[in-house]
Amino acid sequence: MEKLTMEKIVNICKQYGFIFQGSEIYDGLANTWDYGPLGSRIKNAIKDAWRKRFIQENDNSYELDASILMHPRVWEASGHVGGFSDPLMDCKECKTRHRADNLINDFTGDSRGDSMSHEEMVKFIKDNNIPCPKCGKCNFTDIREFNLMFETHRGVIKDDKSIVYLRPENAQGEYVNFLNVQRTMRCKLPFSIGQIGKAFRNEITPGNFTFRTIEFEQMEYQTFCKEGSDQELYEYFKEYGKKFYMDLGLPEEKLRYHDHEKLVFYAKAACDIEYLFPFGWGEINGTHNRTNYDLTRHQEYSGERQEYIDPDTNEKFIPYIVESTYGLDRTVLAVLFNAYCKEELENDTREVMRFHPYLAPYKCAVLPLVKKYHSEKAMEIYEELNKHFMTSYDETGSIGKRYRRQDAIGTPFVITIDDETINNGTVTIRDRDTMKQITLKLDEIVKYIEERIKF
Ligand code: GAP
Repeated sequence: MEKLTMEKIVNICKQYGFIFQGSEIYDGLANTWDYGPLGSRIKNAIKDAWRKRFIQENDNSYELDASILMHPRVWEASGHVGGFSDPLMDCKECKTRHRADNLINDFTGDSRGDSMSHEEMVKFIKDNNIPCPKCGKCNFTDIREFNLMFETHRGVIKDDKSIVYLRPENAQGEYVNFLNVQRTMRCKLPFSIGQIGKAFRNEITPGNFTFRTIEFEQMEYQTFCKEGSDQELYEYFKEYGKKFYMDLGLPEEKLRYHDHEKLVFYAKAACDIEYLFPFGWGEINGTHNRTNYDLTRHQEYSGERQEYIDPDTNEKFIPYIVESTYGLDRTVLAVLFNAYCKEELENDTREVMRFHPYLAPYKCAVLPLVKKYHSEKAMEIYEELNKHFMTSYDETGSIGKRYRRQDAIGTPFVITIDDETINNGTVTIRDRDTMKQITLKLDEIVKYIEERIKF
């Protein structure tokens, strides 16, 4: 079977309108991508699926839509101003810039670079003569830390006092609103705040398409709990996350946990879920037991108490937080890779995107068999189905070519309108995956499809 490469998926995304290079007509802006008509539908479907599983189906869960720009003190309290940086080195020969930990991890094929100090990284790179990926020489500068936050200024004067940051994660929006949500929703611990939104990081390393971008979306879920119940919730959300990905159609053998050996000093446990991309295993989710560090820091920096008062015991304490964060763009990328399939047919081949029907950009397509005779009836049916779900209409080209196009964009059901429709009120529905066709009455179509596109 043909190996699916990154280049191939980038081309498919461009050809069919899933994802385009950002600012393409200006030769693009590195590590930015624009979701086209089909890509945005998949992205929105994943957000809806996440909302359903995390906010709707979990008791005591609330959604938030916080500002991207927050008070600069938030980022001092969170530790991002002081410590959100990458260890960078420049190649003295070709002047390209690299992350020292990535050079090591790519060389060893594991993640040992993550747990090394600066000195250890420099030594390891020298001892092993690790080459620059661009020019092949091993002649690097020392490591220096580079802060990943994007800065901008508010107001007319650009000075240190006017600096604000584009948020590098959603989480702090949930943390600073912890008491607002708790009081207005009158919730008892444990309760959760989820948020879907943009985050920005000044990433300098090459991105692997949408895997690492400078602007991306996260679906973050923070569970506030009492110390003692934290570790059980942590384990629960690790599993819940994996199940969520499997429900989206990602196979278990392409998902794995990666427990962190080196933890930030306040964290009790951290684990990523990784997906097996063509370029190797890559993190798509992280679950973290953050203890009561974040709220303690916000209490200290804001001067506002961040305590929860237990209504049963009157006990006051700062809750622990278990975070489970999902990279939306990386989830879309995993879904795209996983869906692609090239199949040999009897006298032909077909490319098909086998999306979970809930994620497919169009749920069905209406095709008149012969434009001249069947398009009027087909248009009538299309206009009716469009009221229920995203429906595509195509009357140009041979019926075979139109099937192929719907396969290539992953439309799970294709409805053909022919003489039988006009004379007997029946249609044929072709299933994308099995290519089998069945006959249905017109008034059975909506129910048939709705039952098969649920999440
Ligand atoms: N609040 C915790 C947090 O932000 P993170 O591991 O830095 O944790 C969470 O990010 C998720 O966001 C990652 O698992 C990944 O899926 C996604 N992510 C992080 N950086 C990204 C980038 N530069 N481009 C695309 N997605 C990214």
